[in-house]
Amino acid sequence: MDLADILDRHKGREGPLLPILHDVQATFGYVSEDAIRAIALALNLTRAEVHGVVSFYHDFKTKADPRPVLKLCRAEACQARGVDAVAADLPQDGRVKVETVYCLGLCSVGPAAMTGDTVHARLDREKLKALVAAL
Ligand code: FES
Repeated sequence: MDLADILDRHKGREGPLLPILHDVQATFGYVSEDAIRAIALALNLTRAEVHGVVSFYHDFKTKADPRPVLKLCRAEACQARGVDAVAADLPQDGRVKVETVYCLGLCSVGPAAMTGDTVHARLDREKLKALVAAL
């Protein structure tokens, strides 16, 4: 799938910008300046408008980063359930990109994290280490 396919898929859709950006991010791993230009042209927006949305949401990247991503919830409920202690042993070697998120909707079964489209609950140090090792 290329950018033209993504733009075609969302043609005529109401509010297509975010779905297009999500598809571009998922397909290419980032939203390039060329993609921003093409999306702006297709949606009759300025590049600044598209870039503003890309830079506002942390899920959209403007540069390729091949590392696997672990999204670790550090919102209040997961804080109360000990996420800081659970994450204390996370490797600092940079092989995995650890992103902080604020609530994955699993507050009652936290600490919680997300890899790809999969959410992980009731994390402890061992489960988190195994999760990172498997990435
Ligand atoms: S606070 Fe962590 S999942 Fe809601």
